[in-house]
Amino acid sequence: MTAADLIPAPRAVRTAGAGCALDEDTVLAAGPGTEATARRLRAVLQAATGYALPPGRGDGGTAIRLAVGDTGTLGPEGYRLTVDATGATLLGGGPAGVFWAAQTLRQLLGPDAFRRAPLTPGRRWTLPGTVVEDAPRFRWRGLLLDVARHFLPKDGILRYLDLMAAHKLNVLHLHLTDDQGWRLQIRRHPRLTEIGSWRARTKLGHRASPLWDERPHGGFYTQDDIREIVAYAAERHITVVPEIDVPGHSQAAIAAYPELGNTDVIDTTALSVWDTWGVSPNVLAPTDTTLRFYEEVFEEVLELFPSEFVHIGGDECPKDQWRRSATAQARIKGLGLAGEDGLQAWFIGHFDRWLSARGRRLIGWDEILEGGLAPGAAVSSWRGYAGGIAAARAGHDVVMCPEQYVYLDHRQAPGEDEPVPIGFVRTLEDVYRFDPVPAQLTGDERRHVLGTQANLWSEVTEDQGRVDYQVFPRLAALAEVAWSDLPAPAERDHADFERRMAAHYRRLDALGVAYRPPSGPRPWQRRPGILGRPIDGPPPHR
Ligand code: ACM
Repeated sequence: MTAADLIPAPRAVRTAGAGCALDEDTVLAAGPGTEATARRLRAVLQAATGYALPPGRGDGGTAIRLAVGDTGTLGPEGYRLTVDATGATLLGGGPAGVFWAAQTLRQLLGPDAFRRAPLTPGRRWTLPGTVVEDAPRFRWRGLLLDVARHFLPKDGILRYLDLMAAHKLNVLHLHLTDDQGWRLQIRRHPRLTEIGSWRARTKLGHRASPLWDERPHGGFYTQDDIREIVAYAAERHITVVPEIDVPGHSQAAIAAYPELGNTDVIDTTALSVWDTWGVSPNVLAPTDTTLRFYEEVFEEVLELFPSEFVHIGGDECPKDQWRRSATAQARIKGLGLAGEDGLQAWFIGHFDRWLSARGRRLIGWDEILEGGLAPGAAVSSWRGYAGGIAAARAGHDVVMCPEQYVYLDHRQAPGEDEPVPIGFVRTLEDVYRFDPVPAQLTGDERRHVLGTQANLWSEVTEDQGRVDYQVFPRLAALAEVAWSDLPAPAERDHADFERRMAAHYRRLDALGVAYRPPSGPRPWQRRPGILGRPIDGPPPHR
């Protein structure tokens, strides 16, 4: 493996002088503030190499030295990694920088460094003489996992945190609730998971498909599971941002607690957790009961998730029930709101103030812009760039995740070979040529772009293999977009990225990732008989 194969590409890399070998005499010298990374690095390298890497001073023999110190302008997540004849020195601007340096070191050791047992006990592992100077372009480098449409058991989340760390990604956005399932234990409201985490059956393929699997599906994370996930993420310098989607995408909650719905419009006691795809018309009632209920939910969410940002969804709330509801109409009149859209803004505004008062910041999908936001609130721009541009111009922070580029549920190639040919084609190269900062933004406005994330909506990814297939290799491109200082999209050296990907596929193989191979799905990844959504229509909106 050479230093030129790194993904994401570092700011600067130089091959210089003699390298070193890692063997049974190599020690790991951890300076103050690097103990956690030393533990993690020892664990993964011990597994892959069989060498113990005992603690040592690092002043004789070969050593891996970890330290927090002055890296000049590289910032707290930046690092300088030097390999010479005495070993490897990982100097981070802060503890996170040391951790990201350790990810680079692992890549330099070659793909077998990603295995969990040594292939050849006693083998010498060599590191090329190298100096890497590196720092991220963006502070928000994320992946959204939709665990509502299909539940991903806790082990799958922990595995994804490891995969994210290996790609220097640092935000896991967990979409925990939707029409089709509620996945977070709330002690105060147990039926959210007793009832809301299970659906009787699941639609196969796209929303108009006539097929269901006729099998119950569900699951949820206990509060202890979440504490474990959050702590596991924190050890990897990853923040978990929870999303509780309101006031739309809420049918599972209404099925559990019918009083949350618009009871003067429909018999909400007849609702069940939704068994099809699309956007349910059954939305929360804009009542004090609902607000209080969700405050109680968010109180537990804040206890579990220490993240600065809390995501409240806010997307795709059909207004039909509010138009027909005397209760909703009375609220609009009483508060002098601008119709049903004003009611949605009032709902979001309530939680914006509620979160701000507790020292947190609200983030929501770009629909939340429609009603005016507290200054600290941020926007996930999914309906193209427009919402993000408007948000940045209004002084709000933005995470750019337009469906057109980074929705990983969309198909990766034309033709009928894709397991579920959903949506429009977004290739690895398309993701590589995505720029989170639109050219229209001026210097000051640009600073509001916190970064980007890829979003995996899970209607058609019912297990880990399917998730891997949709996410990889495109997440590797997203990681480079988020971390590396790439030039404008048209000037990016895609051929060089493809060349480095050849090395990266070997790492993904060692990690056991069921990615989509460049030549198309393997026979066992094909899935005949499941209908996809047509690709020649307008961009789909779910
Ligand atoms: C979304 O895709 N509805 C955020």
